[in-house]
Amino acid sequence: MRLLPSLPAAVVLTLMWVPLAMPFTVIMSDSGVPSALVDAPQTGFSMNKNGSARTNPQEQQAVYEIMKATGNGWATEIPDVCRGRWHGIECMPDKDEVFHVVSLSFGALSDDTAFPTCDQTQSFISPSITKLPYIRTLFFYRCFSYNPQPIPSFLGQLGPTLQSLVLRDNGHVGPIPAELGNLTRLRVLDLHRNNLNGSIPVSLGRIAGLRSLDLSENRLTGPIPSLSFPVLNVLDLSQNHLMGPIPSSLGNCPSLIKMDMSRNRLSGPIPISIGALKSLILMDLSYNRLSGPLPISIRSLNSLQALILKGNPMDSTTIPGDGFEGLKGLMILVLSDMGLEGPIPDALGRLPSLRVVHLDRNNINGSIPLSFQDMKDLSELRLNDNRLTGPVPFSRETVWRMGRKLRLYNNSGLCIDPRTGIEVGSDVSFLSGISLCEMPKSTPTRTTQHLTSISGDTQRPVWSSNSTSSATKEATFLLLHITTLLFFLSLL
Ligand SMILES: *[C@@H]1O[C@H](CO)[C@@H](O)[C@H](O)[C@H]1NC(C)=O
Ligand SMILES: *[C@@H]1O[C@H](CO)[C@@H](O)[C@H](O)[C@H]1NC(C)=O
Ligand SMILES: *[C@@H]1O[C@H](CO)[C@@H](O)[C@H](O)[C@H]1NC(C)=O
Ligand SMILES: *[C@@H]1O[C@H](CO)[C@@H](O)[C@H](O)[C@H]1NC(C)=O
Ligand SMILES: *[C@@H]1O[C@H](CO)[C@@H](O)[C@H](O)[C@H]1NC(C)=O
Ligand SMILES: *[C@@H]1O[C@H](CO)[C@@H](O)[C@H](O)[C@H]1NC(C)=O
Repeated sequence: MRLLPSLPAAVVLTLMWVPLAMPFTVIMSDSGVPSALVDAPQTGFSMNKNGSARTNPQEQQAVYEIMKATGNGWATEIPDVCRGRWHGIECMPDKDEVFHVVSLSFGALSDDTAFPTCDQTQSFISPSITKLPYIRTLFFYRCFSYNPQPIPSFLGQLGPTLQSLVLRDNGHVGPIPAELGNLTRLRVLDLHRNNLNGSIPVSLGRIAGLRSLDLSENRLTGPIPSLSFPVLNVLDLSQNHLMGPIPSSLGNCPSLIKMDMSRNRLSGPIPISIGALKSLILMDLSYNRLSGPLPISIRSLNSLQALILKGNPMDSTTIPGDGFEGLKGLMILVLSDMGLEGPIPDALGRLPSLRVVHLDRNNINGSIPLSFQDMKDLSELRLNDNRLTGPVPFSRETVWRMGRKLRLYNNSGLCIDPRTGIEVGSDVSFLSGISLCEMPKSTPTRTTQHLTSISGDTQRPVWSSNSTSSATKEATFLLLHITTLLFFLSLL
């Protein structure tokens, strides 16, 4: 697969977070941070000429206090915290060989990255953190879950140096402090899966160099503020209670690779300005209240590989007649349950990279385009619960290859052309409910509406076996999400 242009390490790590649980401590590239630090390897201590280098005493004291506040009092017995390093502290020397703390991480990520764990019932973030004038990375994972507390506003005082703030799955409550907008050197802000409420502070817009913003799985309300992040690669606001429109300022984030605003309460149309997102690979706006029509500018998202708009009631919207022509790399198209009307455009079947197509639970009519015969990579097609008519244009081989990933049930007039050799109603149980077409004298043409299905009104949704139980549907949906993510990751 195509390789992306080189991504900053911070972003790569964020993207790889979910499946691989990569350590964050590698975020060390720091062009533009004014500090007297020598960018030397972390093993600097053993390389000191006379072995006398020490941790800056004020910082050492601060580290003791921060460690105590997380239930890691053992650290106070380490005479020199940079010398007696544990996984989760990173230090760097200045030119006088005094060591400064640049990174602190907490929480058991995986067996490989055993950062100090927090006592989740008592831990808090010590204000002594503001006494670390060189700190670049703060990482707290599952630290305060049973001692719910707000994100401290004093973190905003770390503005001059902090590049990465990760407070993930910590049980934080209350609003996102507006002071975080003072962290103008941040590249990564990750507040995923807390109980944060209130609205997204407008002040975050000051963080011009942000590359990854993840506020997903919180309880954030209110509108999405104007977004203008020239180098932002990842924007994840999914699973909140955000309302109002998708701001058209989104077009001022031209470096976006992944945009996920799914599962909110966003309304209004998708702004035309998304056409500016030329690097976008994944767009997930599913389960909102967005309205149609789909902006024509979608077709200029040349890098897009996954378009997921499922569960937005865009009533009376049609699939663009050009079938999203231009999205040559599109692999995943999920437009289920959107009230879509009209036909499936023939051009859709000519998108060269499509693998997963879900158009189920709409009001789509007409026939399945013949172009779908030639989609060699198609591995999953859901057209169930529509008003499609005419013959299924697939060969016996294709039908068998796709198996249960081909879902055609509950369409008013689909039928099987007997000449395909597909046996109806017997071995091909996943086509149950679809009968043989009544063949006219002439060969069938693309406009197949004149072909009547012999099933007629005797056709009923025989597809009621447990294979379509909601549990299965949910599992498949989850799998799709994982597939999406894996596709995405495999590009990096
Ligand atoms: C060790 O190096 C430091 C700074 O480089 C210097 O101040 C100190 O005098 C040295 N000590 C010895 C014993 O050489
Ligand atoms: C930090 O942010 C707050 C709120 O956005 C602001 O009132 C304050 O003046 C800022 N402090 C500094 C030191 O910039
Ligand atoms: C946020 O949640 C807290 C309780 O954790 C509540 O007291 C507060 O009113 C909530 N604020 C908003 C804006 O919903
Ligand atoms: C499809 O439905 C639309 C109304 O939603 C109707 O105008 C059109 O004629 C239908 N087309 C076919 C082929 O049935
Ligand atoms: C069949 O699909 C239509 C939508 O096209 C839906 O309204 C209807 O409830 C479905 N029938 C069954 C039995 O699921
Ligand atoms: C579907 O599952 C239910 C219980 O989960 C069972 O009672 C029922 O017989 C099953 N139906 C079929 C067609 O297998």
